[in-house]
Amino acid sequence: MLAQKLAVVTGAARGLGLSVARDLAAAGCVVLMVGRNAEAIEAAARQLRESGHQALPHVADVTDASAVAALAARLRREFGRVDILVNNAGVFPEKKDFTALETASVFVVDPEMVAATHASNALAPLRLIQAIVPLMRENAWGRIVNVSSSMGQLAEMGGFWPGYRMSKAALNALTRLTAAELKDSPIKVNSVCPGWCRTEMGGKDATRSADEGAMGIVWAALLPDDGPSGGFFQDGKPIDW
Ligand SMILES: NC(=O)c1ccc[n+]([C@@H]2O[C@H](COP(=O)([O-])OP(=O)(O)OC[C@H]3O[C@@H](n4cnc5c(N)ncnc54)[C@H](OP(=O)(O)O)[C@@H]3O)[C@@H](O)[C@H]2O)c1
Repeated sequence: MLAQKLAVVTGAARGLGLSVARDLAAAGCVVLMVGRNAEAIEAAARQLRESGHQALPHVADVTDASAVAALAARLRREFGRVDILVNNAGVFPEKKDFTALETASVFVVDPEMVAATHASNALAPLRLIQAIVPLMRENAWGRIVNVSSSMGQLAEMGGFWPGYRMSKAALNALTRLTAAELKDSPIKVNSVCPGWCRTEMGGKDATRSADEGAMGIVWAALLPDDGPSGGFFQDGKPIDW
């Protein structure tokens, strides 16, 4: 059913993005793997191709407007379509040291760091959605997954790590906005929290593997036509905003 769908996965060189790219390729998609480090993204795509998957690298820093425009131009030129967009690339620049929480307090955080985190985690997905939804509209099908975090949940908002928390809350707002404006279209947009995963960002003490975390993201990327849009999910189940 999903043969030859074109999926774009950002931040696909390692961690959750690499697992998501592998799972989507295994489901029959051609996957364009986006990363800002040429050597790393080329090696990751090669690794998938050596396992028999259809995966291609694309070098782009998703915070760079001209790089996102070049990505959209390549997608139109080479494939003429995009079926799935996984906005996975993200950063968490604050210290995660639980023994020194005061260094990650809202009262000392550098607002410039908060702005830079927004640029990666919320504004880059906005730019990618603007660049890619026109291609989805042309083919009258689309799935967008914004990889968010329970740390962005307003319902559960605690203190500390304001850069990361605010950026993921903004990403969730982007999901709601986009889904509302696409409500009469066949394009579905959802936020997904992968849980706490053992990646470079999550660290070695995290409770889940990247492959386990990727499953809920892939679920949202492959939703059937009667699936939800405009929701926040973990493991395929709705969670609070
Ligand atoms: N791990 C967790 O526990 C967890 C929990 C909840 C949500 N998440 C979310 O899941 C997503 C993936 O996280 P992860 O744990 O897999 O992190 P990760 O191992 O640090 O991987 C993040 C990837 O994103 C790429 N990236 C960052 N900024 C980019 C940019 N401007 N342009 C292109 N690529 C960029 C990184 O590339 P470089 O190598 O060039 O930096 C890296 O490949 C993130 O959005 C994160 O917030 C993770």
